[in-house]
Amino acid sequence: MSCDFLALAQPGVQKLSPYVPGKPVDELARELNIDPAGIVKLASNENPLGPSPKALEAIRGELAELTRYPDGNGFELKRRLAERCGVQAAQVTLGNGSNDVLDLVARAYLAPGLNAVFSQFAFAVYPIATQAVGAEGRAVPARDFGHDLEAMLAAIDAQTRVVFVANPNNPTGTWFGPQALSDFLAQVPESVLVVLDEAYIEYARGDELPNGLDYLAQYPNLLVSRTFSKAYGLAALRVGYAVSSVQVAEVLNRVRQPFNVNSLALAAACAALDDDDYLQRSRQANDAGMVQLEEGLRALGLSWIPSRGNFIAVDFGRDTAALNQALLREGVIVRPVAGYGMPHHLRVSIGTEQENSRFLAALTKVLDA
Ligand SMILES: Cc1ncc(COP(=O)(O)O)c(C=O)c1O
Repeated sequence: MSCDFLALAQPGVQKLSPYVPGKPVDELARELNIDPAGIVKLASNENPLGPSPKALEAIRGELAELTRYPDGNGFELKRRLAERCGVQAAQVTLGNGSNDVLDLVARAYLAPGLNAVFSQFAFAVYPIATQAVGAEGRAVPARDFGHDLEAMLAAIDAQTRVVFVANPNNPTGTWFGPQALSDFLAQVPESVLVVLDEAYIEYARGDELPNGLDYLAQYPNLLVSRTFSKAYGLAALRVGYAVSSVQVAEVLNRVRQPFNVNSLALAAACAALDDDDYLQRSRQANDAGMVQLEEGLRALGLSWIPSRGNFIAVDFGRDTAALNQALLREGVIVRPVAGYGMPHHLRVSIGTEQENSRFLAALTKVLDA
C-alpha cells in the first residue's frame, strides 16, 4: 500500500495552498495558440520599462565567471546598500528576492506553538512562510482593505514572535502614514519582530509613506524588507534585502542558504542601484500609468482601491472569474485575487502607456459583451 505523503507533511503544510503566480505570457500564448508578442501581462507587478541598461551591462560582464560560486556574503552589494541606507553592512541581509527574507524570518523566529500576526488581504507569502514552519498565522480583519494596526496590536500575545506589515500592501495597494507607523512601533512589545515589507516603497511620493529605515535606530525589533523586483526592474533575477539590527541579521544569516543570491543578480543589483535615471523613469511611468488607468476606469464607471503601489485593485461589484477569462481571451493577463478573499476585484499592474490602453480597450470590449 502506498503511503499518504500529504498526511505525513507537517500539519501547517497540509493546510497550505501553493502560491499562485501571475499567468506567464508563454502559457497563455500556448493556450490561445497566438504569438506571445500580442499578449499584455499586467499580473505580477513587474516593471514595464524593461531592465536598466546599466544592469544588463553588468550582467554581461559577469558571464565569463559563471563557473564560480557567487560571493556568498554579497560583500559589494551589502556595502552599497549600507551606504545608501545609512546603516552598517552587518545590518543588511540579502535574499533570493525579498520573499526569501520573509522566509528566513519565519524559519529563524517561528515554530509550532508560536504565531505571526498579519492583516487580512496581506501579501500571500506571510501565511505561507508562517505555516511552513508549523506556526500559527493570525490574519487580523482589515479596515477598508488596509491594515488595521490597532487590531493587529490587540492580536499580539505572549506567543507572537513576528508581525508582518506591508506598506503599501499587495494586493490592495493600501498604505499608512508616518504617524500610524510611529504609534504602532511604540506599542509593539520589544520581543516581537516587526517585519515592515517595503517592496513598493520606491513608488511613494513625498513623505506620505514613512521610510522604515528612519525607525531602525530607535527600534531594534524592526526589520525593513525591500526588493530589486519592482522599481529596480530585476524581478527575474530574484534579489531583495532586509535591513535590521546587527543581531537579527546575524540570526538570519544562520539559516540563509550559503549562495542564496546568484552572481548575475549581485552584479545587476549593484548597477541598478547606481542607475538613478532608471529609477526616476520607473516612478514617472508608474505615476503616469496610474493616472491613465484611473481615468480609464472612471470613464467605465468602475471603482478601485486607491493604491500607492505599481498596481491597482479594481472593484467590479460581482464575481470576476468570467471577466478574467474574457480578458485572457483578449490576450490580457491581469491577476484574480479571489484567493485573497477578494472575488469581486481584479488586480491590474501598471504597464506602459500602450499596455494600459490595451487593457482598457479589452476591458471596455468584454464589459460591453
Ligand atoms: C508586498 C510584497 N512583498 C514582497 C514581495 C516579494 O517580491 P520579491 O521576492 O520579488 O522581492 C512582493 C512581490 O510581489 C510583494 O508584493
